[in-house]
Amino acid sequence: MTFIDQSALPTTGNREIDRDHNEIADRVNAIYAAWQTDGTCRLLRPHLEALLETLRGHFAKEITIARGAGYKAWVEHHTRHAEFLARLQRFIDTCENCDSGHPLDISLFRILETHLYEHEMTLDQDMWALWSEPDAGSDQPLILWRPEFSVGVEQIDQQHRFLIRMLNDFFLSLDGPAALADHHQRLKAILNETERHFRSEEQYFSHLPAEEAERHRLAHDQLLKELMLAIKDREAFGADDLKALLAGFLRYWLIDHIVNIDAKLRDFLR
Ligand SMILES: [Fe+2]
Ligand SMILES: [Fe+2]
Ligand SMILES: [Fe+2]
Ligand SMILES: [Fe+2]
Repeated sequence: MTFIDQSALPTTGNREIDRDHNEIADRVNAIYAAWQTDGTCRLLRPHLEALLETLRGHFAKEITIARGAGYKAWVEHHTRHAEFLARLQRFIDTCENCDSGHPLDISLFRILETHLYEHEMTLDQDMWALWSEPDAGSDQPLILWRPEFSVGVEQIDQQHRFLIRMLNDFFLSLDGPAALADHHQRLKAILNETERHFRSEEQYFSHLPAEEAERHRLAHDQLLKELMLAIKDREAFGADDLKALLAGFLRYWLIDHIVNIDAKLRDFLR
């Protein structure tokens, strides 16, 4: 018997997040299955560590999506995530005798799992109303340019418009007959263009205080890593999953960076 019945998980309106939730449920189920067969720390620790990593990635992605979608209480929400991760880490650390056959105290894990479920299914609901996917078959763009996207430098604004257009065109093309290989080519073109844009934007960083420039450069590196990971993850996936990726994650990933990081350039480049 599985512990979490995935078919009973509520959908959030964001297929990218739903996909993560299924993966998290898989990991929790794997912990229970392993606990039923052996139950020692030695056996369970790698499963717990894998769950911790999956949650870390999911929470980071959720905050990017939430910020990009305009969720204001994200700092407070991020704190809840950090607290949960710290509790799970402490629990993993309590497995002191990991090299012996010390049995895992599953009741503590159950308490953590209940907290996680409550967070994911109740607290997170605040955000669910913020996202939606364009209706299937409509030619509604994924991202519409908004005045607050402008950073006040024409060259940067133009590059942002171009990236937005690439995402919009790609999203629309996924309804068409193009082959899977073409889709992945397009995803790689977006990666290349993003990289080119970052390097070009960084040429303005000499006008920024060193600390701000460094923070922004690190954000670029992080964004590229996230994009590469998302692409790598999807190599075997079809048009529908790519639509979920674009509508559920990449558009917020781009908007979040433009609105919350690039916008600061405005103060220094006037
Ligand atoms: Fe979640
Ligand atoms: Fe959350
Ligand atoms: Fe940037
Ligand atoms: Fe930018």
